[in-house]
Amino acid sequence: MSKTTPLLLGPIIGGLTDTHVNLWGRASGPATLHAWLSRKADFSDAKLAGRSLPLSADDGFAGVVPLDELNPEATYFYALTLGNEKPAKPDGRFTTFPAPAQPRTFSFALGSCFRPEEKDSGEVFDVIETRRQAENLRFILMIGDQIYADARKNNGLMNRIAVSKDDYRKVYEHTWSKRPLRGLLKNLPAFMILDDHEVDDDWRWRDAERRWATIPPWDTFARWLGGCSWQERHLPVERVRNALQAYWEHQAMHAPPPIQTLGLDENRQYHLRREDKGSLAYTFEYGAAAFFVMDTRTMRVRGTHPSEKTMLGEGQWQAFEAWLLDVKDKYPVKFIVTSASLLHPLWLDIARDRWSGFQEERTRLLSMLALHGIEGVYFLAGDLHAAHVVSAELYGPQGKRIPVWEFCSSPFEQKPNWVSKLTYTRLHSGPITNQKRRFCVAAHNFGVVHVDFSNPQQPQVRFVVHYKGKKGWKTKPPV
Ligand SMILES: [Fe+2]
Repeated sequence: MSKTTPLLLGPIIGGLTDTHVNLWGRASGPATLHAWLSRKADFSDAKLAGRSLPLSADDGFAGVVPLDELNPEATYFYALTLGNEKPAKPDGRFTTFPAPAQPRTFSFALGSCFRPEEKDSGEVFDVIETRRQAENLRFILMIGDQIYADARKNNGLMNRIAVSKDDYRKVYEHTWSKRPLRGLLKNLPAFMILDDHEVDDDWRWRDAERRWATIPPWDTFARWLGGCSWQERHLPVERVRNALQAYWEHQAMHAPPPIQTLGLDENRQYHLRREDKGSLAYTFEYGAAAFFVMDTRTMRVRGTHPSEKTMLGEGQWQAFEAWLLDVKDKYPVKFIVTSASLLHPLWLDIARDRWSGFQEERTRLLSMLALHGIEGVYFLAGDLHAAHVVSAELYGPQGKRIPVWEFCSSPFEQKPNWVSKLTYTRLHSGPITNQKRRFCVAAHNFGVVHVDFSNPQQPQVRFVVHYKGKKGWKTKPPV
């Protein structure tokens, strides 16, 4: 590969902490990534800071350069090249986070669901870039459906559903090569987690052994009517592994390390065994705000027997409870990132694909928060193709009422969902009261969360939704 060949995808700034970053890129053939760092915008003192392992076909020629020993709250200019020649200009910049538990005021963007329908799709990312500059956004949380592997008309596969590893890789290439998205992620660190469409629509395991997965019967039927092949209509473990390999290459490789890794088989693919305690969930902190990014998908079992049914899997539950107790007093603000909405059930929800399809676990989660008296909790969700804010209170210890919020942003670009706007209902079980939906917007949108630590004893958290109206982008007043 020539020294001046550009990256096929990236760069992406991932896994950022106060002292560490993962710079990610994907090439179109064998190569090695070189990361260059400078503290100066003109790049005059740029130095080679690290190299990736050789990029190989086994990982779709994707890789990361992990860099350590950075200074907290320091701005670095960087470039990611395939050759070892020092570039004249940086690709972008990033600012490291404050040391954990240090109270700092900051803002970040969030959203989900990008299914590009036009050649010049991705307008939303240009709008986020404007906000990044105006409001000093520190990172973006991308809460799932970063690709739509099953969107035959919009996935770049010429009217096919992704089946093989190369299919899934091509969908990432098609979706992530949009100029506005690439432009944004050069300068805005990203934290990602999958939802369903990274694999297939509303998919889940059929049994706890995780040998066969399934999609809703209406999808199978529509695909049969549409002349799809057997492979496109079914979801054996091999296809899930292909999708998760592509997920690893594009989203997990640059993320913070998982709290418990998923086991690998002899071919370095996830074996997804019943007893596996691992998942793709991870945690990170920005100053005095702690984040738990849930994996609501890979260990999800619908099951034929109620005892098999689970959304998170027992290993993730244990890790989550341990995290809650750990951050309870150390971090006044806690964000629980869940691709599927928890506090916005729909009375017309045939797929039962959200927490409302796993009511025992929803109650378990809310009871855990109530029982331990966890304060300062905000759920961050995607998936619904409409944005919303829901507030509620939990019955805490000694009769104390504990406020809890859900902020949702979806879609970046996908068909807005009026059903989700019109069929909201309150929860009818669990230790919850005073649940109110503050607003709902069915339009292309993204959210910005402002965390204000001006008074460290009483941090304020606000959620602002920016959405596309008929005459351009608008802002929903914060609640
Ligand atoms: Fe979606």
